Amino acid sequence: MSSVELRKVDKHYAGYHALKAVDLRIEKGEFVVMVGPSGCGKSTLLKTIAGLETINSGQVVINGRDVTREEPGDRGIAMVFQSYALYPHMTVAENMGFGLRMAKRPKAEIDAAVKRAAQILRLEEQLDKRPKQLSGGQRQRVAIGRAITRSPEVFLFDEPLSNLDAALRTQMRVELSSLHAQLGSTMVYVTHDQIEAMTMADRIVVLNKGRVEQVGSPLELYANPANIFVAGFLGAPRMNFIEARVETVGAGEITLTAAGMPALAFGGIDGLSAGDAVTVGIRPENLHLVEAANARQASFPGQVRLVEHLGRETVLYLDASPLQATNSDSGTGNFTVQLNKVSPISVGAQLTAGFDLADAYLFGPDGRTLTPRKPVPAT
Ligand SMILES: Nc1ncnc2c1ncn2[C@@H]1O[C@H](COP(=O)(O)OP(=O)(O)O)[C@@H](O)[C@H]1O
Ligand SMILES: [Mg+2]
Repeated sequence: MSSVELRKVDKHYAGYHALKAVDLRIEKGEFVVMVGPSGCGKSTLLKTIAGLETINSGQVVINGRDVTREEPGDRGIAMVFQSYALYPHMTVAENMGFGLRMAKRPKAEIDAAVKRAAQILRLEEQLDKRPKQLSGGQRQRVAIGRAITRSPEVFLFDEPLSNLDAALRTQMRVELSSLHAQLGSTMVYVTHDQIEAMTMADRIVVLNKGRVEQVGSPLELYANPANIFVAGFLGAPRMNFIEARVETVGAGEITLTAAGMPALAFGGIDGLSAGDAVTVGIRPENLHLVEAANARQASFPGQVRLVEHLGRETVLYLDASPLQATNSDSGTGNFTVQLNKVSPISVGAQLTAGFDLADAYLFGPDGRTLTPRKPVPAT
């Protein structure tokens, strides 16, 4: 087990600033998930830790040792890729023992390591097969097995489940979490999938355009996103955003207007002036259907454009123009409402949606969260 530290890491590819002053400390035995959209620098960050990319400035420190200029093979890490990268002409056992064979370890040691990894990953029956005789999930387990046999201090995973179908992904998520519990190793896992991040991580690192946006436990980031990017990235269906304008600024309270809604009053907000363009965020599960007649302050009319019946819950996509809303799941002008029950509402229905202001977030002109901290559910 090792800690991993990145200190002010900058990485430029020819003309492209891929990592910007990344500071991060990963504790021994932690399962850290780096998440962010495609192209945000996740693979670059992982390759930086592995030593497969050289950085322009900053330091990589593993277990207190500056490894910035060390070769990948000397860093005590093992990396698992999305593409599995198995050797097709080798058996499962040979693939899993490859790293140790390259390191010229004795045969008895290699055999024992392969046997142990095969037990952990339930591959004992597959050891003599070739990769093409295996399912996608089994191949990915062989790739993980190849990492395990090397007893690395740190495991690095780069989107290892992206090539698997949905059912298998769920199963492998559980397996990887159990593997972490069993081995207790430090694991750094990269994904663009916020569900993988929410379900597997001790801590999540949200990356955007080469910068760390926020670091924290899944529920902490969900309850208290530092900015509009994190708020919109974590959560499925995603948070709804409403464009609004600051109307009045009083002692400890401001009021906002958004087209189509009565004025909204927010307490505990500093740093805004009348006329500022702000954004109100509300998660789909915090939007409720209300009677138009007794609609409260935060409510608006809408028309149902699409209904998704998911069994236990119903997701409504609502056209609420003239309210300026965006939701990256349902597009501009739309709201997503998540009801925790089966609903008989059908497409075309006119209804009123409302929310409790205590559930809403307010983001300033620069995107930073202005609303006071919300309680984080205990686990
Ligand atoms: N070898 C390279 N040369 C130039 N640009 C690169 C190279 N590798 C990655 N990039 C660029 O750096 C950015 C981050 O890439 P990457 O770390 O692979 O993103 P992610 O893994 O988050 O999808 C992308 O914009 C990508 O185009
Ligand atoms: Mg990548």
